[in-house]
Amino acid sequence: MPAVARTLEAARLEALGCVRCALNLGRTQVVYGTGSPDADLLFVGEAPGRDEDLQGEPFVGRAGQLLTSILSEHGIARSDIYIANVLKCRPPNNRDPLPDEIEACRPWLAEQIERIDPLLIVTLGNFSTKLLLETSVGISKLHGKTYRFGERWLIPTFHPSAALRGGPNGSTTRDLRTDIAFAVDTIGRLRAQPQPTARPEPQRETERASSEGQLF
Ligand code: URA
Repeated sequence: MPAVARTLEAARLEALGCVRCALNLGRTQVVYGTGSPDADLLFVGEAPGRDEDLQGEPFVGRAGQLLTSILSEHGIARSDIYIANVLKCRPPNNRDPLPDEIEACRPWLAEQIERIDPLLIVTLGNFSTKLLLETSVGISKLHGKTYRFGERWLIPTFHPSAALRGGPNGSTTRDLRTDIAFAVDTIGRLRAQPQPTARPEPQRETERASSEGQLF
């Protein structure tokens, strides 16, 4: 008999007890992800910060409030989409994720992508973009364009924390807004297409960030 795939909720419950890396020693709680398990649109950030660690939900601090507010300008509620991170536990003092932590945590994100099965993934910042596109190219070059991610599409954009800092002449904030507007437009066009056999060519140039292959 074929194995029955477990639900996202079953995966989440297992993740709550994860001890795959040392971050479990310092966390208040695992921040698995939040939103609709059937979402067409999946946002992937970097790692929980202090607020997220305390509340157990991704993107609830200042960066998250900016993201939530931009989405609401497009009539999108957090419950309409799914939001996750590369790391499910907060690194001490919000330091960058380490390679071994990303490696240990990667199966949780891979399973989220498989179970949610989104049409479009929006990566927020360098860590999720580089991980999923398997590239060393930075976000400034990659943002705001569509990339193939297996059967799906992926649009990288800046991390909302970078947008809070503004960037040169506020350009990062503007780019985040523009890229999210583009993602909202893209998901509308993807939903309008017959699924799953045909997915539309995006309006903007489609590029490959890395030469070949998929991460998962
Ligand atoms: N930054 C992230 O990358 N993720 C969060 O959940 C919060 C801040």
